Amino acid sequence: MEHLVSIDQISNGQIDDLFFLAEHMQRGHQEAYRFRPREKVVANLFYEPSTRTAASFHVAAVRLGASVFTVDDVKFSSMAKGESLEDTVQVIGGYVDAIVLRHPDDDAAELAAKFSPVPVINAGCGAGEHPTQALLDLYTIRREQGPIYKLTVGLMGDLRHSRTVHSLVRLLRRHGARICLISPGELQLPLSMKSGSDISFSSLDACIDQLDVLYLTRVQWERMSENAQRLYNFKYGLEPEMLARASPSMIVMHPLPRTSELPREIDADPRARYFQQAKNGLYIRMALLRGMLA
Ligand code: NCD
Repeated sequence: MEHLVSIDQISNGQIDDLFFLAEHMQRGHQEAYRFRPREKVVANLFYEPSTRTAASFHVAAVRLGASVFTVDDVKFSSMAKGESLEDTVQVIGGYVDAIVLRHPDDDAAELAAKFSPVPVINAGCGAGEHPTQALLDLYTIRREQGPIYKLTVGLMGDLRHSRTVHSLVRLLRRHGARICLISPGELQLPLSMKSGSDISFSSLDACIDQLDVLYLTRVQWERMSENAQRLYNFKYGLEPEMLARASPSMIVMHPLPRTSELPREIDADPRARYFQQAKNGLYIRMALLRGMLA
């Protein structure tokens, strides 16, 4: 795999290999996969805020023995002088072995991949895709709940703007999951991303008892116009009492950061898996970097 811009670029066979390696590393077998000292350098180019993704890519690289060069304060780089993304990746790509890119434009990673001399990994671009998040989500679901084709997965919240959902929904379909889409009308999954086999609900109440996985997302206010921000007052979420109607084996996931849709009281419920999910991201990113930098 040269670049990872879209989740469609990684085959199911490659995903099986990636998960096998991630699992192996998660069990503590990391020494054999370390690069030689000073062998590899990764650039973390973050044009949009990030906590988990930036930190886990950084730590993944460091644990593999690679060094990391980070640009996340655009004010202090040539981007502030109006340098194009094409030029930036061409130059930075001449210094490093891979570029991890987060950007507010949906097609930024695709553009970067055209100009970069080294692999580009999409770390979340606009309302487009977030393939590495989808991989760690699928990894978490498979570890916790077993074969994906047996599962009913509820994707709930801002399905319109959530790039994590845009990548994950395709990955889940490819693996044969039954998908329930739960969102307010204005926040539905874009029509072009829907499939005839999806089942849509406007409230969680109507389907929570059917779910093996509930995947919540926050409202992405920053991706809406000021007008829409004034107009809408979306209220949805997982109330702690609703969990009484869910299966005892259902798991609750969230890419984080959370807002009011996922109250802190839920953290104490044994079905909460979002912190484990975030942790799994480290091993998925280690396995990915190991494969792409080799
Ligand atoms: C998500 C993102 O950046 O798309 N966060 C993440 O990477 N874990 C979700 C979000 O911002 O809501």
